[in-house]
Amino acid sequence: MRNEYETAVLSRILPSDAERVESHLMGQKLIDAVKEAAGVPAMITGSVARGTWVKGDKDIDVFMLFPPELSRDELQEKGLAAAYAVVEKFGGTSEEKYAEHPYLNAVIEGYDVDLVPCYNVASTAEMKCAVDRTPFHTRYLIDKIAPLKEDVLLLKQFCKGGGVYGSDHMTGGFSGYLCELLILHYGGFSNFMRAASKFRYGEVVDIEKYYPDKKAVRALFTDPLIVIDPTDKHRNVAAALTPTRFSEFMELARDYCEKPGACYFVPDAATTISKSEFTALLERRKTALYALSFKTPEYVADTVVPQLRKTMETIRSMLIKEEFQVHRSEVFMGPEHSIIIFELLVAELPNIIVREGPPVWNHTNADKFVEKYLHQEEFAGPWIFEDRYYTEVPRKYITAASLLEDRKKIFSGALGKHVRISMEEGYDVLCGSDIWSEEFSFSLSAYFARSSHAVRKMRQLCNE
Ligand code: UTP
Ligand code: MN
Repeated sequence: MRNEYETAVLSRILPSDAERVESHLMGQKLIDAVKEAAGVPAMITGSVARGTWVKGDKDIDVFMLFPPELSRDELQEKGLAAAYAVVEKFGGTSEEKYAEHPYLNAVIEGYDVDLVPCYNVASTAEMKCAVDRTPFHTRYLIDKIAPLKEDVLLLKQFCKGGGVYGSDHMTGGFSGYLCELLILHYGGFSNFMRAASKFRYGEVVDIEKYYPDKKAVRALFTDPLIVIDPTDKHRNVAAALTPTRFSEFMELARDYCEKPGACYFVPDAATTISKSEFTALLERRKTALYALSFKTPEYVADTVVPQLRKTMETIRSMLIKEEFQVHRSEVFMGPEHSIIIFELLVAELPNIIVREGPPVWNHTNADKFVEKYLHQEEFAGPWIFEDRYYTEVPRKYITAASLLEDRKKIFSGALGKHVRISMEEGYDVLCGSDIWSEEFSFSLSAYFARSSHAVRKMRQLCNE
């Protein structure tokens, strides 16, 4: 049974019969072209092959199946050559992308086509690289998911509406394949939503019953949601789902089951913030906002974003160690620049800081400590508290800015590889309203409007 909102959204996102026929034909043409160019079989994978794509998302994933005897270098070389030949045949445009190995992302007759070389292995046990698994997903699902296509589309659109769709690093949400497996396991959208609203951390879905019980699965995986891949028992399909997105989804599912609404299927419109609004907001919050800004490394977001986060964590620890309390921190990757934001409770600290010394009974070190600070009469110490020496010393970083501007200090930490290279070419330390720029007017708005998706949906429902 579908409610009125589900019926309405399906009429929007269900591809038409004509669209299905058209993309099927396009797929067949691409398969023929691969055969012609490289003499190897190809296969359409992903949602287009399974009839589970959301109307308008015209991405066709073509996997070119090369013999497993080829070396990695040969696979890359022959794969790219075949892909370029196919693009040329259709007069399309293309761009090389890098995942585990290079593949071609092309636009052919209005379709977004990925041409991916992989090994034609007989089972997932013989896989030679991670993408070899993908054709097995389609083989597994294609018949089983056919009667549940509408349910898959509803779940995908629900995830998109809630901002939790996509297994990329920035999102950390639900992949298309994961949505399909969940629908298959629970037997439909409504059933799944009811189950999801009662989910707990460490939920287990083992469709093919590879393991005797949930305990055996939890001993191997620690993720919030564990969905054993029916094509590979060693893999959790939900590995990319972050604890935050998992919890957000549960909240969305619970609210939706209680009171459904159209807004759950509509992504939130992105909001922007102007420079004057930004300045006014900072004035209201009275926090100290700093940003490190530098050129965005020329790699895909899935490479850069984790590096930005790693860099943020390192610098965040430095700030905390120097007693600058970090209220919140965030990273944003723009097309030109990337920024790492630190919102601090204070920007300036007093001249003194306490230094912990050795235990008193450790005579050698204790003597050294006392000797070192004996003639420092500016501040108190050294003194004994319980088993240790302590002393006051002049603080090295009086201002947070002086720490952030200390290149030697910053580069002494563990930073992401490409992010470090870019920062070494130069980074700016921006403060307060100087952080605002057109490039980040959306991201900065999202930063201040932070609230879970379900909370935003509830606010929308009040206005509906
Ligand atoms: P896509 O990202 O195109 O997903 O990956 P999709 O299933 O086609 O969904 P939409 O409708 O485009 O959003 C294509 C295939 O690659 C494998 C899956 O088999 C997927 O169906 N894949 C992709 C993974 O196994 N894991 C991933 O994180 C991404
Ligand atoms: Mn796809």
